[in-house]
Amino acid sequence: MSLKGKDLLTLKDWSSSEIYEVLDLAGKLKKENKEGKFHPLLKGKTLGMIFQKASTRTRISFEVAMWQLGGDALFLNPQDLQMGRGEPIKDTARVLARYLEGIMIRTFSHSEVEELAHYADIPVINGLTDTYHPCQALADVLTIREHKGGFEGLKVAYLGDGNNVAHSLILACAKVGINVSLACPPGYEPQEEVVEQALLSRLVPTSEITVTSCPQDALKDADAVYTDVWASMGQEEEHKERLQKFMHYQLNMDLLKQAKPDAIVLHCLPAHREEEITDEVIEGAQSAVMDQAENRLHAQKAVLALVMG
Ligand code: CP
Ligand code: NVA
Repeated sequence: MSLKGKDLLTLKDWSSSEIYEVLDLAGKLKKENKEGKFHPLLKGKTLGMIFQKASTRTRISFEVAMWQLGGDALFLNPQDLQMGRGEPIKDTARVLARYLEGIMIRTFSHSEVEELAHYADIPVINGLTDTYHPCQALADVLTIREHKGGFEGLKVAYLGDGNNVAHSLILACAKVGINVSLACPPGYEPQEEVVEQALLSRLVPTSEITVTSCPQDALKDADAVYTDVWASMGQEEEHKERLQKFMHYQLNMDLLKQAKPDAIVLHCLPAHREEEITDEVIEGAQSAVMDQAENRLHAQKAVLALVMG
């Protein structure tokens, strides 16, 4: 089985065994990294990175990942590209594919990433769209595996907006065999199509994905509790309205007590303290958010090595 040349757009078309391959390689590279060992698996190869939205973790972890793999990363500001002056995606895609061995793109509409991938005959990696964040989800399940020693029988509770991060988390968890329970305010549930796709691709036929409006129900007996911002990038003007609608979904110490006592706390970051999560929880003993942020680097190194190698 080879992942060479494969796009990473949503995780929908990545099988359970392909995800396990990423996680296993990520774990190995991480361990060797800590011992000071680096492998030039992508020597002479270049990743182009297009960012239509801000980023700290994604940009830096991809750049460092490419350097550690012996390759190069180019930060491409769309405002400086002809794309910013209206050059079509299909031309940009075909031209970039003549220079680069891979493209990472963070943008708004998911269809732009699909179009780029359609026209570029090199791997395209989604670094976040309005609908999916697959690189985040790979780091999330890697973090859960490290902290819990495996996936069997685990339950992840997700609190808040059924957004890009939630969609990718649902897909990744289903494919590795984790149960997911989401608590979202009415009207902010994840897309039904994504939940259906995740159910269809479950590794464990009995694993569950439940969506409720009750945070206490979702958190009951959870092994990991995850939350994300209430207003994502591009939704800034809805922020005030969402503060009202999401106020009962804040991950605070009282709510966290509903989960198992050894539950870990996850957040993709950046976090808005005292909105979706309290400072006490994110800084508390159960928080694994910095391991999770670190794992972006290791999971992406594995993806890059497998698809561009
Ligand atoms: N979690 C995440 O993708 O962070 P950045 O927006 O900083 O890349
Ligand atoms: N849901 C957030 C994730 C940021 C990493 C957003 O899209 O802004």
